[in-house]
Amino acid sequence: MGGASHMSETTPKPADVLVIFGVTGDLAKKMTFRALYRLEAAGRLDCPIIGVAKEPWSEDRLRTTARAALEATGEPVKDEIFDRLAGRLGYVHGDLADPATYKRLAKALEGFTRPLFYLEIPPTLFAPVVASLGQAHLTGGATVIIEKPFGHDLASARQLNVELHQVLGEDQILRIDHFLGKQPVLDISFLRFANALLEPVWDRDHVAAVQVTMAEDLGVEDRGAFYDPVGALRDVLQNHLLQVLALVTMEAPVGPGHRALWDRKADIFRAMADVDPARCVRGQYAGYSKVPGVHKGSKTETYVALRLEVQSWRWAGVPLFIRAGKALAARATEVRVIFRRPPRLSFLDGPRHTDANQLIIRIDPDPGLRLVMLSKGPEGTASRDVHMDLPFAAELGRPPEPYERLLHDALIGDHSLFTREDSVEETWRVLQPLVDHPPAPLPYRRGSWGPSQADELLRGHPPWQLPWLPDAKSPKD
Ligand code: BG6
Repeated sequence: MGGASHMSETTPKPADVLVIFGVTGDLAKKMTFRALYRLEAAGRLDCPIIGVAKEPWSEDRLRTTARAALEATGEPVKDEIFDRLAGRLGYVHGDLADPATYKRLAKALEGFTRPLFYLEIPPTLFAPVVASLGQAHLTGGATVIIEKPFGHDLASARQLNVELHQVLGEDQILRIDHFLGKQPVLDISFLRFANALLEPVWDRDHVAAVQVTMAEDLGVEDRGAFYDPVGALRDVLQNHLLQVLALVTMEAPVGPGHRALWDRKADIFRAMADVDPARCVRGQYAGYSKVPGVHKGSKTETYVALRLEVQSWRWAGVPLFIRAGKALAARATEVRVIFRRPPRLSFLDGPRHTDANQLIIRIDPDPGLRLVMLSKGPEGTASRDVHMDLPFAAELGRPPEPYERLLHDALIGDHSLFTREDSVEETWRVLQPLVDHPPAPLPYRRGSWGPSQADELLRGHPPWQLPWLPDAKSPKD
């Protein structure tokens, strides 16, 4: 539970079996089999895997489906590795509302004491499935992974936590957010706290504003039925982007282990003022209402931009801007820290000498770090900005994919990259005014940077910056 840092952390205990509910679904096909295959290839998987779903499939059918799904992701599949993975797979079929399903599962789990249950099922089923696992006496030494969304507002997030806690302790619940498994997101705290150059300037005395952008060039495509009741705020901002912002703004954890990190993140969310709906812009791209599965006259936002503030000595007065949208001009997810301008100095001449340093962490695509510095231009005494770019892959090699990393962490009992109930509830508390009083969505053109009214949010502060795009030609080139 929140604030439990004084409790000693027990040594993580690895799971002895992985049970995937919803193994016949989309997430398994797109992400899970590939993550498991990669873990198998790296020799990092060492337990049986049991799939559970309602389809009356044979184990062979599950294996064939897994192989086809893997190939469809573009993963080059080696027979020898796939056969090892396939050899781990078992299957229990049955309706998740039927107690007989859990009896069959209990039989399949005989002899195992530390199951990891991964619930790749609709959120409305999280609590009933966990209750059924409890009734079947399967939760004793278990941990349970749940996928977002963790509630759709503050009340439902609290309710979900109450229901889960009727059966599970907080340390048995792993709330997965795939952004927290992305290498550049993990890098945020390392860059900040392992570099004496950065940490001393990471505060309101030096930082003018922070901009977090998650731009997707694709629209909602075939996910209309899923997306329309959700929207950008719930789909990516409440979870992925607030988690990223917490890593950008939190204090350094004061010890090893997951609780120290969770405590610092929770502090930041607690220090965040409730969002002011007058400082939010919602948008909807032209043509969204024609997407199959979207309600006629839908008011769902496919774009959201807002301003947050952290009320602390480090951050008071520094505006933290976040924007996220579909069908925008490019795919780019980045964190941009914009520093205060240098003073005007008469010996530094030229129109650009009031530009400021920026530090950009590009999360997607092609993760990397860019430092925007001011330097002397070739002519006269004018300064101009120059970029110091660090492409992470070139320097650090290929990192594991988010699901690969997170599943492995869950299997070995490392909980650091999962989210705790108090953080989830605080993020909903921050956003609840916007959930209650959403401004009308403004139309924007596909392929644009969203509604122009979002520029107004930044009046008096550095304007939205064009994200650092991998193939963008800088004007100086
Ligand atoms: C998911 C959202 O959580 O994240 C999607 O539901 C979004 O709408 C996706 O497209 C983006 O993730 P990534 O890793 O592709 O940036």
